Amino acid sequence: MKIAIVTGANRGIGFELTRQLLDSGYAVHATYRSNMGGLKGVQHAHLTTHRVDVRSDEDVAALMVSVGERVDLLVNNAGVPDGRWSSIAEIDLQETAEVFEVNAFSPVRVTQHALPLLANSQGGVVAMMSSLMASIDDCKSGRSYAYRASKTALNMFAISMKNELEALGASLIILHPGWVETDMGGPHAPLTPQESVKGIVARLNEQNGELSGRFVQYDGIELPW
Ligand SMILES: NC(=O)c1ccc[n+]([C@@H]2O[C@H](COP(=O)([O-])OP(=O)(O)OC[C@H]3O[C@@H](n4cnc5c(N)ncnc54)[C@H](OP(=O)(O)O)[C@@H]3O)[C@@H](O)[C@H]2O)c1
Repeated sequence: MKIAIVTGANRGIGFELTRQLLDSGYAVHATYRSNMGGLKGVQHAHLTTHRVDVRSDEDVAALMVSVGERVDLLVNNAGVPDGRWSSIAEIDLQETAEVFEVNAFSPVRVTQHALPLLANSQGGVVAMMSSLMASIDDCKSGRSYAYRASKTALNMFAISMKNELEALGASLIILHPGWVETDMGGPHAPLTPQESVKGIVARLNEQNGELSGRFVQYDGIELPW
């Protein structure tokens, strides 16, 4: 049985991904920061929950000890929005640093701690939940300064990891889930978490060494960097 870790799994895309991975036969280690949220209601023999703030080395190290020897799929999903400042003058750099800590640095932290477990998988996968808003080519409207920049940094951290991950036998996928109706995506988003995650699971299942390093949206369309 394949073993997955999903961060930020108590609500939104992470929660739905946990449900669909369980349905497709994975054992899932689902993490929540403080509130178990939807995970409280899921009774499944192959679900294990862990309280993890992805900003904490201690929490992340303890997670890997609990997971054990091997992980086949790591999904760095936890993320935060920014202040949606409407002008350059309003950008709050303290808040920007906090957004970077969660969206760009914490996926690096979690991946670092997971490396020995990924090395024990036959064909492990590291998935980064990025965004189309990371795309420099696509950035026509501007704004969303901290969120965009944090996800662009995530993409660069990720693609820079590609060769080393491949040396461990693991492949990398950088995902855009689409615009999804969650607390972050808001009520006007065109996609339900179910639709988005159905596509994400298909992308994860087709992932292999040859596809390593792609930046792709939930439906398989490759995105400009
Ligand atoms: N929704 C969209 O349209 C969309 C589009 C593009 C990309 N994305 C990306 O997809 C991912 C999931 O987004 P979503 O829409 O599901 O957002 P969401 O509903 O706001 O959920 C965010 C999740 O991240 C967790 N999280 C935040 N900070 C954390 C921390 N320090 N430690 C551990 N967990 C933390 C939250 O936990 P708490 O409940 O404890 O806050 C929550 O479980 C994010 O990376 C987001 O940037 C979303």
